[in-house]
Amino acid sequence: AAADKGGWPSFMAKEVSEEPEAVANTLRGRMRDGQVVIPELDGLDGLFAGITRIIVIACGTAAYAGMVGKYALEQWTRVPVDVELAHEFRYRDPVIGADTLVVSISQSGETMDTLMAVKYARERGAKTLSICNTQGATIPRESDAIVYTHAGPEVAVASTKAFVAQITALYLLALHIGRVRGSLSPTEAAQQVLELEAIPDKITRILHLEQARIEQFAAWMADTRSVLFLGRHVGYPIALEGALKLKEISYIHAEGFAAGELKHGPIALIEPGQPVFVIVPSPRESALLHSKVVSNIQEIRARGARVIAVAEEGDAAVLPFADEVLRIPLAGPLFEPLLAVVPLHIFAMGLATAKGLDVDQPRNLAKSVTVE
Ligand code: G6P
Repeated sequence: AAADKGGWPSFMAKEVSEEPEAVANTLRGRMRDGQVVIPELDGLDGLFAGITRIIVIACGTAAYAGMVGKYALEQWTRVPVDVELAHEFRYRDPVIGADTLVVSISQSGETMDTLMAVKYARERGAKTLSICNTQGATIPRESDAIVYTHAGPEVAVASTKAFVAQITALYLLALHIGRVRGSLSPTEAAQQVLELEAIPDKITRILHLEQARIEQFAAWMADTRSVLFLGRHVGYPIALEGALKLKEISYIHAEGFAAGELKHGPIALIEPGQPVFVIVPSPRESALLHSKVVSNIQEIRARGARVIAVAEEGDAAVLPFADEVLRIPLAGPLFEPLLAVVPLHIFAMGLATAKGLDVDQPRNLAKSVTVE
């Protein structure tokens, strides 16, 4: 049955353990001979032909998945992408029309803010595509096209497996549009498909090698009052997601920042003992970004921050400056978010559990917010 914890202490624990399947099931049946072909989009090439821009709309965790998706959508389709919170998009007279593809992302498919924004976009003549985890929900019914995530039912209020499934669906969509528009060569596309197919085993590896250690570490940090998260490029939305998850279920003040923004303000927050998670880009895949983030780590370390680095296996450059290193397997630069988020989900869950909180039903929050 859907409402069965299957032996796990919480739905959230069960759902984090299902992150590998959430990605694998979302990929299934959508790749043919190294190319992405999404069967639900058969006959809908017209949706992608004449567009000059893509706007991604969502709320909460889904909006952070959208921010990650922007990098892949722009890189593979060469169409400019904006990501907007649905409630901000809806009430500011946005410039949209028949050349705009509005991609909504919603686990439940019932979030009222997102639904209103989709209806509004449609009335204004935009094309609408829904990425949704719930068959037959309202938002997909109101959209021109649907790409379902196959994460399975998500019960815990804080979204975990749906988040990795949403990023996967956005990447598939980007590769599908890239093929239809001819913006991506078959060789390049095939390479990205290989990267995607390798993700589920890499997430499993994190769960096997790091979960117990991260939970212990989180328990040890249970009295922390404030945690900061820094990331750059695709690591930036992951920093935001790490902070959101901690706020949602552990009630600790947490904030995510773009690492490059540090010197423009947030570094003033750093005082001795302040825990800061840093998502470190791959030294192999993104040498320049890696060196920039390592110098950010040095800057905050010099001011006494306690640095917890989420870094690629084998990255030794972070060792002299990090108090703790949470390891993720090697992956191409755009694929790191699907891995880097896993330790952050485990950390938030571990810390809330250590505080004795109900991780599935955090105070004041609802799984699906069906009022504006
Ligand atoms: C609520 C939940 C969040 C979720 C957001 C969007 O605020 O508490 O976990 O990310 O809604 O939900 P949706 O179903 O639209 O993805």
